[in-house]
Amino acid sequence: MPFRQLSLDLPNSHSVSPQVQAAIEQLACNPQADARGAIFTRQEVVEFILDLVGYREEQPLHTMRLLEPSFGRGDFLLAIIKRLLKAWRAFQSNGVALDDLSDAIRAVELHHTSFKHTTAAVINLLESDGLDSKTATTLSKRWLSQGDFLLTPLDGEFEVVVGNPPYIRPELIPAPLLAAYRNRYRTMFDRADIYIPFIERMLSVLSNQGHLGVICSDRWMKNRYGGPLRRLIAEQFHLKIYVDMVDTPAFHSEVVAYPAITVITREKAEATRLAYRPTVETRALTQLADVLRAPVLSKESTMVQELATVTDAAQPWLLKSSEQVALIRRLEQSFPALEAVECKVGIGVATGADQAFIGDFETLDVEGDRKLPLVTFSPA
Ligand SMILES: C[S@@+](CC[C@H](N)C(=O)[O-])C[C@H]1O[C@@H](n2cnc3c(N)ncnc32)[C@H](O)[C@@H]1O
Repeated sequence: MPFRQLSLDLPNSHSVSPQVQAAIEQLACNPQADARGAIFTRQEVVEFILDLVGYREEQPLHTMRLLEPSFGRGDFLLAIIKRLLKAWRAFQSNGVALDDLSDAIRAVELHHTSFKHTTAAVINLLESDGLDSKTATTLSKRWLSQGDFLLTPLDGEFEVVVGNPPYIRPELIPAPLLAAYRNRYRTMFDRADIYIPFIERMLSVLSNQGHLGVICSDRWMKNRYGGPLRRLIAEQFHLKIYVDMVDTPAFHSEVVAYPAITVITREKAEATRLAYRPTVETRALTQLADVLRAPVLSKESTMVQELATVTDAAQPWLLKSSEQVALIRRLEQSFPALEAVECKVGIGVATGADQAFIGDFETLDVEGDRKLPLVTFSPA
């Protein structure tokens, strides 16, 4: 059965247990941005993602429904509203704002203070665009809600789902809340970070023609906890675009998050378009978005590549050029996996005194039967 959000399968947050409610409140009141996984997206990157998902002023945006699951201080939301108002004025010059726009946006934020400040900024933006204050306040109430995106009921489907979900490791999520997430989200697996069930829920409410555009850490594309989400995408979605944003200033603060942008749809899976580490500058990103979205990719294109199959059940995604993937496939066919020949593969050694314990195998002054051969590798 196609994977869709049923309005019945998520009780509203008032019907969760008092312990879960208390845990949500604890996070919602936490002034520390780290505890809420708050990292804010640079404006150029926000505009790039909106371009990639087709949320462009030349489209009748007031006829689409857009979801932003964790709007923070509004980096996506305010840009979205500006585009929406421009498109609405162009397409509906005599329109009535409340009639035409009430259904255009749904946006959620957990943190009370961010919610309050961003609501004020939204009202301010609507008023400065010429809407009267009653209309501006009513629209903000229809559009914005305060709560936990993973437990808040949502009405209907969305043509556009965009955002930068929070990053919270499972050990930092209060236990009753973590249990509630594990109970509801099949991708909340192993040591999955909270952005994983966020993507699951964002995908679940995507309409047939919808586009999801998300910026977040790329770790789940290869690691163990990302397996169930990769499987879900391989089975029911199309990974349309991937942009590696590692070492680019994608966020307002410097974070060690290996960011990537992915655009995912419900279309039949075809080739994935890939771009690597673009210059974060408006003109360059506008051009790149045009190439990534072009109906046919020019053979001369140097900025963008196409890979025939990236998603394959829960397999890690190989997002390198086709030559590199071909090399990996050839090596896989010619040699056994390291673990099949009794090698242990880990993320590093933790001896506590590497200078004493790691050295040239032959000359290391330790009994032979105590020595283990070790190979280390650092990616370029
Ligand atoms: C990474 S920030 C992104 C903010 C904004 N969308 C942007 O891109 O700049 C994540 C936001 O998610 C909020 N948040 C954390 N947990 C949440 C939850 N369970 N439901 C909704 N929002 C949540 C945080 O307070 C924070 O504002």
